[in-house]
Amino acid sequence: MASLIDHKKIERNVTLLGALALVTVAIGGIVEIAPLFWIDSTVEKVEGMRPYTPLEQAGRDIYVREGCYNCHSQMIRPFRDEVERYGHYSLAAESMYDHPFQWGSKRTGPDLARVGGRYSDEWQVQHLKDPRSVVGESIMPGYAFLADHDLSTDDASQRLTALSRVGVPYSKDDIAKAGQDMIDQATPGFDASDLARRYPKAQARDFDGNPGRVTEMDALVAYLQMLGTLVDHRAAEPQEQPR
Ligand code: HEC
Repeated sequence: MASLIDHKKIERNVTLLGALALVTVAIGGIVEIAPLFWIDSTVEKVEGMRPYTPLEQAGRDIYVREGCYNCHSQMIRPFRDEVERYGHYSLAAESMYDHPFQWGSKRTGPDLARVGGRYSDEWQVQHLKDPRSVVGESIMPGYAFLADHDLSTDDASQRLTALSRVGVPYSKDDIAKAGQDMIDQATPGFDASDLARRYPKAQARDFDGNPGRVTEMDALVAYLQMLGTLVDHRAAEPQEQPR
């Protein structure tokens, strides 16, 4: 009975109601926001993860621009069927440099978190140009125009600068060389040792089968072929405890 009267008091006093509502909402807010203050220790670092090369990043921007995420996620969940189909479940650190991240459960097409190296460059290019020419029953749209669009390097440095502002550790050197790095990584015969020193495991070659030009297709295929190849996830497994 007493609590009923208290409740009446609260409901009839708009100031009190407002103040208590604020307190309640604030608790919920803190619970959601506070973990972000410790995000650095929340996301466990794993060996091998590095910022994307300017070419891979450009491919990623094309991926986002073209809306590939409407049908594909990049997050293998720790369920047996997913792990058997796509490989080791995704680690948080594997998307630590993703802005925006590509998590989700939208699976009109397969998850792409570990698609790198699964197919040849030729397959990727052919599939992107005309999906049904390699997978007869595919409902994926074609993106042949990417092979006709030269890759723009104009804003390469600005894009890396923007990412470094939100915490991706690109060095001044990386930012200054971004435009040239983009072209170099997709140019056959280029000495990629400096690129590989700054971006370990960077794959440098002509990706789109057209060595004379660096196109948006080069960037997208470079990005796809890198996905899931940076981290040796077996090394990130928890060690077996001695009994
Ligand atoms: C309308 C939905 C849709 C969109 C949009 C879409 N895809 Fe797909 N994708 C699919 C489907 C369905 C498959 C499976 C059949 C096939 O291989 O074509 C697929 C397959 C793939 C595969 C092969 C994956 C594997 O493991 O076999 C890759 C790589 C891929 N898509 C990349 C892309 C990229 C890059 C884009 C954006 C440029 C894109 N997709 C846009 C539906 C889509």
